[in-house]
Amino acid sequence: MSDKDPSIKPWGGRFTEATDQFVERFTASVSFDQRLYHHDINGSLAHAAMLAKVGVLTTDELSKIQEGLEEIRAEILSGRFEWSISLEDVHMNIEARLTDKIGITGKKLHTGRSRNDQVATDIRLYLRDELALIVTELSRLQQGLITLATREAHTIMPGFTHLQTAQPVTFGHHMLAWNEMLERDYSRFQDCAARLNQCPLGAAALAGTTYPIDRHYSAELLGFDRPTENSLDSVSDRDFAIEFAAAASLLMTHMSRFSEELVLWTSAQFKFIELPDRFCTGSSIMPQKKNPDVPELIRGKVGRVNGHLVSLLTLMKSQPLAYNKDNQEDKEPLFDIIDTVKDCLKAYADMVPAITVNADITREAAMRGFSTATDLADYLVRKGLPFRDAHEVVGKSVAYGIAENKDLSEMSLAELQTFSTDIEQDVFDVLTLEGSVNARDHIGGTAPKQVLAAAERALARLNLRG
Ligand code: ARG
Repeated sequence: MSDKDPSIKPWGGRFTEATDQFVERFTASVSFDQRLYHHDINGSLAHAAMLAKVGVLTTDELSKIQEGLEEIRAEILSGRFEWSISLEDVHMNIEARLTDKIGITGKKLHTGRSRNDQVATDIRLYLRDELALIVTELSRLQQGLITLATREAHTIMPGFTHLQTAQPVTFGHHMLAWNEMLERDYSRFQDCAARLNQCPLGAAALAGTTYPIDRHYSAELLGFDRPTENSLDSVSDRDFAIEFAAAASLLMTHMSRFSEELVLWTSAQFKFIELPDRFCTGSSIMPQKKNPDVPELIRGKVGRVNGHLVSLLTLMKSQPLAYNKDNQEDKEPLFDIIDTVKDCLKAYADMVPAITVNADITREAAMRGFSTATDLADYLVRKGLPFRDAHEVVGKSVAYGIAENKDLSEMSLAELQTFSTDIEQDVFDVLTLEGSVNARDHIGGTAPKQVLAAAERALARLNLRG
């Protein structure tokens, strides 16, 4: 049988000429969907077992199919399998090879099935496994953040709003803010995994099949919670891919925010932290450079993931029921999101525990910028001043500090008292950085004691994960 013969195609019966060579390449997906092979084989094994259970295949035919498919899996794994573009996609490549191996029985595997429900099943199975890997890596990153937060629970740094010094915070508190973002990402991935876990097998091309199939059985064999409800929806639905892409975009948005801060903090102007050399690169012309390439690249990679989300949404927009070839375009964006997210999570999970903090520098930075000004205002309110008046007094003290180049805590009591006679010696308890952070002693606050307690709670949540 030559490649020119239309009958080489499993669907070639009604055709009188071979597919145009360009069209063949243009419509084929095997170059990228071959990565579904493992799940495609598992889906076929479950389908075949179901067919045998309901009597459509004999047990002998089932064993032949099982052996053949396992041999094919081994061939693919060892790189011996020859993928053919003229066989279009992973599904037809594997099916054709099965028929090569076991003859006519191989052709029976596709009974009561279509590539439409087959591919929908494969992607769900594939994404389900990848989601499990992604949340494992996400948990590893969270573990690193919590450890770093605990280690740096007492380290003081400036907290910013508008990127201007606002109030002192602890470095650990800042790390736990990142952790909260990731905690929400985790729950979004879990939601996505729960919703995708339904089995489209049995929907066949679009309307179901005339064979006495047992959809509950194949769903159960594949670890799905249940079969999907509606055959038309089963073959056309790609919501799970879009949901995943949306959750991934948000995760990447968070990672880009961390990255931006890491890039700032490693600069000579901030010097808040050091990244280990093994995560940085140098410049070919400027010998002094140590560039934070990993955070920079992750900050950049959010672009492609957001782009893929829009691709998937646009792919599905206005599609009539049921399956359309358009859907073949779901795979490359989906695969690239998976690869990108896994790489970014790995890089950060490896790097975060190795971050070192220059505590002297972060403390000194918090001293600059009058970060305890709100504490002085709160102090005056406790002495009976209305907040607006207190704000005014502190504003004047700050103006004086700017002129004299002095932080509030560096002024003498006499100097401070020129702004308000309510100020007494105990003011220095609140003007120090430690006094300021320790005073924010409630759930969600930056006090080291609270940070340590929050880190413990975060760790307990992490340990509850399966
Ligand atoms: N390669 C196809 C895809 O990825 C498989 C389904 C093809 N179905 C069809 N009726 N042509 O969507």
